[in-house]
Formats: sequence, C-alpha cells, structure tokens
Amino acid sequence: MMKVVLSYSGGLDTTTCIYWIKEKYGADVVTVTVDVGQEDDFGELEERAYRAGALKHYTIDAKEEFAKKYILPGIKSNALYEGKYPLSTSLARPLISEKVVEIAKKEGTFHIAHGSTGKGNDQVRFEISIKSLYPEAKVFSPVREWSMSRDMEYEYLLSHGFKYPYSKGEFSVDENLWGRSVEGGRIELENLEPPEEAFSWTKNIKEAPDIPDVIEIEFEEGEPIGINGNSMDLVSIIKYLNIIGGKHGIGRIDHMEDRVVGIKSREVYEVPAAKILIEAHQDLEKLVLTKSVLKFKYLVEKYWTDLVYEGLWHDPLRESLDAFVNETQRYVSGKVKLKLFKGNIQVIGRESPNSLYKHNLSTYSSLSTFDQSKAIGFIEIWGMQTLLFNEMKVKPQLTKTENVPNAL
Ligand code: ARG
Repeated sequence: MMKVVLSYSGGLDTTTCIYWIKEKYGADVVTVTVDVGQEDDFGELEERAYRAGALKHYTIDAKEEFAKKYILPGIKSNALYEGKYPLSTSLARPLISEKVVEIAKKEGTFHIAHGSTGKGNDQVRFEISIKSLYPEAKVFSPVREWSMSRDMEYEYLLSHGFKYPYSKGEFSVDENLWGRSVEGGRIELENLEPPEEAFSWTKNIKEAPDIPDVIEIEFEEGEPIGINGNSMDLVSIIKYLNIIGGKHGIGRIDHMEDRVVGIKSREVYEVPAAKILIEAHQDLEKLVLTKSVLKFKYLVEKYWTDLVYEGLWHDPLRESLDAFVNETQRYVSGKVKLKLFKGNIQVIGRESPNSLYKHNLSTYSSLSTFDQSKAIGFIEIWGMQTLLFNEMKVKPQLTKTENVPNAL
C-alpha cells in the first residue's frame, strides 16, 4: 500500500489532508509535526491526527536546531525582508522539510505531502527544500489540488464524521519561536487597520505599561548569549524577549509584501524578539565593523534575505554568503543596552572590547586629539573630480566659430 508522509500542523487544512489523501489515493498517512516553538498542545495534535485516521504520528522537537541553524544566521544577517519581515515562517520551512524527509526515508517512502496552498511562498519553500534533500521524492499538495474553501473543508470533515475543534477561525496563522504571522479575513482589506483580535503575543500600546524596561543583551561573535548579565541559551533568550517585548507592545508589523509567486499581499506579524535582537545586533555591528565592511555586508544581507524568503535555502549561494557573514561576526562581541517602552525599542548604550569608537577623536571638547588642519587637504583631494566637473559646467563654453582654428 502506498504510504504518504504528511507535514501536519494540526490545522484545518492538514487535518482535511489526512482524509483526502486516504480517500483519493487509497494511501496510508503518516503525520509529522515539527515543534519549532509554536504554542500548541502536541499531545492533542497527535490525538487529532490519529482520530482523523493517521497510521502513525511523529512529534519532533526541533526548537534548539531552529534557533541555532536557522534563526541565528538570520540575526547575523539582520534579515528583514523588504526592510520589515524577519522571515519567521520562511526560516522554519527548510527545517520542517528536513525532518519530514528524515521520516519519509525511515518509513521507506518517496511520497511526501504538505498543506500549503497554490498561492503562497510556502509551497515553493517546501518543494525546493524537500527535493534538494531527497531528489527521488514525489511531493504533492492536496490543498492546491482540491480547491476547497475553508468552509468547504470544515463541511467535508463533518461529512466524514470529524468535527474540527475550532470555530471557523477568521485568520490563517503560522507561529514559531521567531514570530507569528497572520493572514486572511479582514487583514486582506489593505486599507483597514488590523483588528485587535489578530494579535495575541503583543499588547496594544494603549495597554502597555507606563514604566519602561531597560535590558542589556550580550553578544559573542554575533550570537546573543545572555541578558542582564545572566547567560542564557538562544531559545530562552528569544522566549524571554517575546514576552517582555510583547508586554510593551513591540513587534507588530503591517506589511504590503511581495510574494515569490508575484502576488502582493497584506500581512500582519508579531515579532517582538526578532525586532529587539536585530536592532541590538545591528547597533553593535556599527560599533565594531568598519564602514567598508558595513557597506558591503548590507548588500550581502539583502541577497541572503531574498534568497531565504524565495525558498532557495539550499542554493549554494546561501552558504557562500553565510561564510562571508560569519567571518565578519568574529568581532561582533559586546553588550547593547535597550529601553523598551510603548511599542518602541530605543538603543541607549553599547560597549565592546572591539569597539572602533574613539572618544578623543570624535569629541568636540578640549580633550580632542584630532588635528583639524588636516581636513583642509583631505577635502581638496576628496572633492577634486566633483569640483573639476562643476567648474567645467559653469564656465562659458567655446562657440563653434571660436573652436575652428584660424586658417588665416
Ligand atoms: N508571508 C509570510 C511568508 O511567506 C508568512 C506566511 C505564513 N502563512 C500563514 N498561513 N500565515 O513567509
């Protein structure tokens, strides 16, 4: 009998997939749920998978791996797609693909299914990642094939004697350690303020505390390693910052996003930890990296971010870019102090043994050791061609007759 390994989130789409795959392909379904930090009851998900007819279910805790192998490179690359979105969903997809492939190989099957629609980025990420790791795999996407609306899925499940536990939720939510993304329902109306019900990790600024929190994050070679003097692992740091940032109303994003399939979509995110960590990391880099490294790294970051967003995690370019970024991070150690208040992240101080900031050079006080007279020659040489060009432009041009050599 054909066996299909299904990446199972426990949501309406993937629960419908279990019935549909069995019915349409007469196949056995093995479900895999990867724990990347979503707030789910995994026992309940397992029970739901079996109730819907799964032959076997696996729950895999991959939080640590997600933080170290996927989120950390995102921090080092200050990855914000189109300047805003920290790739929370995008980064988890190659990891989920890896785990699903492991199970498919263990279960001795080529058949792998995911629950993404035909309109989004996730189908692209899943299929390219799965096939990069397992070229023989046959990947299919029932949701893309069946063209049922969410209401129809609910009815379809009911007709098979399965009452899906949630009311027909307005929003489609994807959640992991690095963020929560919300799509659908009223969010699709791009000119309407996102309804308060769309948010669950972050407080509305109106309800955020009137007293700020000041925190100090420590980095070692680009990696966050502690908060307020306490060493912590990356998963705990992210969880802590999601809570404290959320409390201050930090990390709500309203984004007009360009999907890889060409569609523009309005997306809402809650990403408190991601915003805080990237802000702090970027600030520390400005203290310790030279202007030329920063300038070039900015281009690398853009390439890295677009590549990951667009589902090409397994392209060799990603590893080449990581190699460059890791090299720069050797100096990114130190501490950054931030004030969290009413939706704002304010960097209020930074320190590093590798700092390139020299007070005696930048000060306007009498402590200055910078010889200002040297600036005169510098400006002359630095601006030489610009000045030559502008001189040429304002000089009266020779007329044609003046130009002709006098034959007489
Ligand atoms: N637009 C984001 C991305 O492509 C998030 C999509 C998440 N999916 C969801 N059902 N909310 O990475």
